[in-house]
Amino acid sequence: MPPKAPPAEKIEQLRALIRHHEHRYYVLDNPEISDAEFDKLFRALKAVEAEHPELVLPDSPTQRVGGKPAEGFAAVEHARPMLSLDNAYSEGELLDLDRRVKELSGVAPDYVCELKIDGLSLSLIYEEGMLTRGVTRGDGTRGEDVTANVKTIRSLPLKLRDEAAQKYRRLEIRGEVFLPLASFHKVNEEREDNDEPRFANPRNAAAGTLRTLNPDVVASRKLDLFVYQCFADGQIPCPRHSETLGWLKEAGLKVNPHWKQCESIQAVIDYCRAWEEKRDSLSYEIDGVVVKVNSVRLQQDMGATSKFPRWAVAYKFAARQATTQVKNILVQVGRTGALTPVAELDPVELAGSTISRATLHNEDEIRRLGLKIGDLVLIEKGGDVIPKVVKVLEDRRPEDAQTFVMPSRCPVCSGEVYRPEGEAVRRCANVGCPAKVKESLLHFSARKAMKIEGLGEALADQLVDKGMVKDPADLYQLSLDDLVRLDRMGKKSSLNLLAQVEESKRNDLARIIFGLGIRHVGERTAQILAQRFGSMDALSRAAQDELESVFEVGPVVAESIYRFFAQPENLAVIAKLKAAGVNLTAKTAARKSAQLQGKQFVLTGKLPSLSREQAGALIEQHGGRITVSVSQKTDFVLAGEDAGSKLDKARALGVPVIEETEFLKMVGGE
Ligand code: IVH
Repeated sequence: MPPKAPPAEKIEQLRALIRHHEHRYYVLDNPEISDAEFDKLFRALKAVEAEHPELVLPDSPTQRVGGKPAEGFAAVEHARPMLSLDNAYSEGELLDLDRRVKELSGVAPDYVCELKIDGLSLSLIYEEGMLTRGVTRGDGTRGEDVTANVKTIRSLPLKLRDEAAQKYRRLEIRGEVFLPLASFHKVNEEREDNDEPRFANPRNAAAGTLRTLNPDVVASRKLDLFVYQCFADGQIPCPRHSETLGWLKEAGLKVNPHWKQCESIQAVIDYCRAWEEKRDSLSYEIDGVVVKVNSVRLQQDMGATSKFPRWAVAYKFAARQATTQVKNILVQVGRTGALTPVAELDPVELAGSTISRATLHNEDEIRRLGLKIGDLVLIEKGGDVIPKVVKVLEDRRPEDAQTFVMPSRCPVCSGEVYRPEGEAVRRCANVGCPAKVKESLLHFSARKAMKIEGLGEALADQLVDKGMVKDPADLYQLSLDDLVRLDRMGKKSSLNLLAQVEESKRNDLARIIFGLGIRHVGERTAQILAQRFGSMDALSRAAQDELESVFEVGPVVAESIYRFFAQPENLAVIAKLKAAGVNLTAKTAARKSAQLQGKQFVLTGKLPSLSREQAGALIEQHGGRITVSVSQKTDFVLAGEDAGSKLDKARALGVPVIEETEFLKMVGGE
């Protein structure tokens, strides 16, 4: 057997390998090994680091998620202001730029065209090659320190690759952080499941994510970053911008591959036009092309105003907007009974599709817009599929335009409508409202819930309208006779549906908890609840403070769950599900032991190998609870690196403080 490498060497070898593969995968988009092989390397590194916590360094690939929710973001002053760009909306304005440059330099300049990524600009500081800070643009002079969140961006090297780049004492890199469209759609789906408002566009979603206090959540959102500017100890490293882009790439940073050096303004115009056509072919949003003078010398000669550099402009694409008329305002009723006004539009072409509806969110939004039925409006399609009304063209208002009044009764069942305090939406109070029942059936059967795929909108409509199904539990009472009598339900599709309904009885507890559609309980919370309580019975009996003590379940969610199970109608549905033979217990034993029964833990700092989530799950699986703040009632404070005030408080109160190794022994050495 070859002699075993000393741990420090082994750790460095693994880190170098992992960095190499991260770069291949996240920056170059060209992996050399499978995800499973990569995970294996990563786990190996975590294991050696857990054995030798003294060797864990901040630039280790395992240190991307600090796991420590921040209390807020510190303000940081930029070394030099982060300027914005002047916009150009036409060829003429690009020709103006060219004229100004020529006047000043007396030569025909060349340009670099880059895509204008629709995200947020970010400043990154590398000190001797190590990432030490990430700051948002803020007001251009001062931004917010979002280092912990920025580190979760996998394409961003924690350590630069190039020796030349590592030599600088202080390297400032600027770039645009953004949310790829696929991640954006996923985040919005999750928000919908959790009854949270959707983000209007990927830019807002990226901004919201970057300002999220919990880096675990940020990591799950998958932000990405393209860099486009650099100051190396205050200087621009290369005489031409095109060379700087190459230099940044060498250093291991992600530079957008779509850029072009153009020898004339005509070539710039052609490039802008071409990308205006192709903008939808990318997996992220762009809103224009940034045109920069290539020569750094010339850039410096031209200088900047207080807001913009004079050597660059942003050629902005025409917005994806259209003008049309609001024919009517309909009111839809959702699963939670929310009444949502929707504008019915004169159909219009927008970004390749015909739009005939736009969401108006709620009555406050209609008031804010000052919208009347019959108005001409400007509609816009952001990255999201759902178009929205952005502006009312008041000076073109027809004489017979009508004020819209939100109905005081449910438009579907005529039931009573109420507006909960502090909320912008009205809700139908009737539990049996057919609109609610239909939506809850669709949610119950959804792929992430009970997975009854044969149940689509048309079928849900018929089942509810014919009175065959009044709640999801009724699905389990349907017979072949019932189904074949419905429109478009042959024997084959009926049998298929019955088979899926039958199959769904064996689903895991988490799916049915999610499928019940409890407000604020998304897929992930459902999984946590299933694991913690182990059965629907136990969950339905949980006291509100017990729910609140579950890791990651806050007071609002706890109250919502508690209220759900306090309603006799809901308990009746659960009893029906049970009688029908639907599985209401967790497959994996919820409790592994009662070793920590009744013990209260507080987590603080960063543990060497467990994430907060993992530690939280272990505590709960062994009967313990987690609370947020240290008090007399706390039994243990589980502390890691950089533990803050909680540790001081524990010491002051004489609460035992334990480390990860001791904790792992308590739960049986997992
Ligand atoms: S250069 C001083 N290049 O657009 C010049 N900016 O509207 C600094 N942006 O604040 C900016 N893609 O957030 C540059 N390839 C790109 C860009 C880009 C997006 C953003 C950046 C800037 C804003 C100006």
